[in-house]
Amino acid sequence: MSSTFDLQSIPFVCIGHRGACGYEPENTLSSFECAIAMGCDWIELDVYQVEGELLVIHDDTLNRTTNGRGEVVQQTLAYLRSLDAGKGQQIPKLTEVVRAVDHRAGINIELKGEHTASPVVDLLHQFEASGWDPAEFLISSFDHVQLAQVGQLEPRLRTGALFSRDAENCIAKAIDLRAFSLNLGLRLVDADLVQRIHAAGLKVYVFTVNHTADISRMMADQVDGVFTNFPDRVLEMQKEIQNGR
Ligand code: G3P
Ligand code: MG
Repeated sequence: MSSTFDLQSIPFVCIGHRGACGYEPENTLSSFECAIAMGCDWIELDVYQVEGELLVIHDDTLNRTTNGRGEVVQQTLAYLRSLDAGKGQQIPKLTEVVRAVDHRAGINIELKGEHTASPVVDLLHQFEASGWDPAEFLISSFDHVQLAQVGQLEPRLRTGALFSRDAENCIAKAIDLRAFSLNLGLRLVDADLVQRIHAAGLKVYVFTVNHTADISRMMADQVDGVFTNFPDRVLEMQKEIQNGR
């Protein structure tokens, strides 16, 4: 892969949260395309497993983001694929997203559904055989048991331990998981914590950072990247900083 996308060497990464979901229906191909067109080096998405297929959707129910009803994992794959996830688009399969992104950005796969660790690792092995680099992916989850499974199944895959509210002992927990990064909710983050995370040899990515004041604060706190629904805002601010304005 291009070193442009290697998280180890990117000083600050703009991660399109569910694509560019401030502009396009979240977790759809058009949302990912929009994020890449804006200039995101990374995108983030959420996955569930249904009938052995990994599907890209955030909620465990269909009501908010599609014209369907009920729990995602209770439905047939055929029904899920018949739904409108916004602007006439299907709920994408993870394979479709990886192929559509086609090395133009890194992909953060967040394990939302149960029993997703093993199928994600299997799928990424298939992509590796077709020329994808494991460093093009970051696997994250609030479910640290599944995250540990990813690390056991494929230690070469980078993992990010997600925390949204209680960050107590988050550094020790991430080290225990052999995670690459701590992916933290915005309200948990301050400069002192960022320093301690860096001292432990971990990266820190922060969600969901949409407002300019927060983007600015995260840059000042020297986090390694942010998840945002509005990638243009983050990228514009980065440009202004680079141009010394
Ligand atoms: O991975 C960052 C963020 O996506 C975690 O929260 O609920 O938006 O998936 P959520
Ligand atoms: Mg997510």
